[in-house]
Amino acid sequence: MSNAELKVTEYQGLSNSDWQARKEDAVARGQGNIAPVYVEHAKGSEIWDVEGRRYIDFGTGIAVCSAGHCHPKITAAVAEQLNKFSHTCVMVTPYDVSVRLAEKLNEIAPGPSKKKSIFVTTGAEAVENAVKIARAHTGRRGVIAFNGGFHGRTMLAMGLTGKITPYKNLFGPFPAEIYHAPYPIDYHGVTVEQALRAVDDLFKVDLAPLDCAAIIVEPVQGEGGFYPAPVEFLQALRKICDEHGIVLIVDEIQTGFARTGKMFCAEYAGVEADLMTVAKGMANGFPIAAVVGKAEIMDAPLPGGLGGTYAGSPLGCAAGLAMIDVIAEEDLVGAASRVGARFAGRLEALQAKYPDTIGHLRTAHGAMLAMELVKNGDAGQPDAELTRALVGKAYENGLALLSCGARGNVIRFLPALNISDALVDEGLDILESCLDELLK
Ligand SMILES: Cc1ncc(COP(=O)(O)O)c(C=O)c1O
Repeated sequence: MSNAELKVTEYQGLSNSDWQARKEDAVARGQGNIAPVYVEHAKGSEIWDVEGRRYIDFGTGIAVCSAGHCHPKITAAVAEQLNKFSHTCVMVTPYDVSVRLAEKLNEIAPGPSKKKSIFVTTGAEAVENAVKIARAHTGRRGVIAFNGGFHGRTMLAMGLTGKITPYKNLFGPFPAEIYHAPYPIDYHGVTVEQALRAVDDLFKVDLAPLDCAAIIVEPVQGEGGFYPAPVEFLQALRKICDEHGIVLIVDEIQTGFARTGKMFCAEYAGVEADLMTVAKGMANGFPIAAVVGKAEIMDAPLPGGLGGTYAGSPLGCAAGLAMIDVIAEEDLVGAASRVGARFAGRLEALQAKYPDTIGHLRTAHGAMLAMELVKNGDAGQPDAELTRALVGKAYENGLALLSCGARGNVIRFLPALNISDALVDEGLDILESCLDELLK
């Protein structure tokens, strides 16, 4: 037996709990996992674990594998690139796939302005670089972000993130010159007017508009609870930024690439961002992220000021190019709306069955849906315990499910955009029976 074969047999027959015990011994607790499910392989909208159990995937690795696991066209494009070369560093000797992907991103980004792009590896890096670009362009220091927003775990992105637990606990001091304002959420009594007044208050109290480099906003808050920004809010932010020469950064890392039933979610508001951050669904599982923006702003930093060793990996670029083709060829933009409508019908029926528990549904943005779980039908009584129990039970019953929300009481649905109706129905049947059991 070869060494490689010996190694394989050493791992065979280990259960999820065996792996979880080994993981807890080997990996620091800060990198937690939602479920003790160790993936053996995944295809389309299904995942199989090391025990041979199957799961319907309603999470796509947090809005990443939007075309399904192992999409043949994307896998083939990456394999072809892998056989040519996997790394030379885009800042040393670049390659055609990175130029072609930048051209594509510039073409599909919303709005008429001439665009340029840069590549990095993760969403947090894209956010960091967007702020650097905005500061270089304006020569200003301040950045306004929103309560409940999530922009990543690196120091500056974490500072921008508007949610303490678990992202900011123990990690201060936070970077300077970040200001948070309320995000408009009707269900929690924050109107667009109140949110805009708070921005105006910041301008009066903490940060003169002339010192403000950027406002960063998610068009639908992701980790914060899947709250969509009302169209008039995004339009008002655009106006404020225009008035004061502030850079509007739209964080489309979770909402981009067809997820919400538009190629990019800001299209619902008809707003052109100055800078847009993208990652996740951009390459269906290969680590690549980008900042795409107005050319004159993007060109503000000096050569060498932006980048990273793995920035714009050729494998990520090949995957990104293939993903953009797949979105067009399979009409994943339309598919997101169709999948969303199928979920919406079933979730509405579930809400009618449990009106005191399912306090609010968010179903207006394609395949980015959520239900908020409360006690006694009261928005002010979040049921984080039930949410946790439902996620746990879902995994026990073969459904990969995610939660989110500043209060930990939101179940979010992020299926592949090409998931079959049969799998949607089967997954929602599991969800319903889990809820039945927990509420009986
Ligand atoms: C809106 C948004 N911005 C930024 C990030 C950070 O991306 P990453 O985890 O790739 O650093 C995320 C990740 O969930 C996100 O949803």
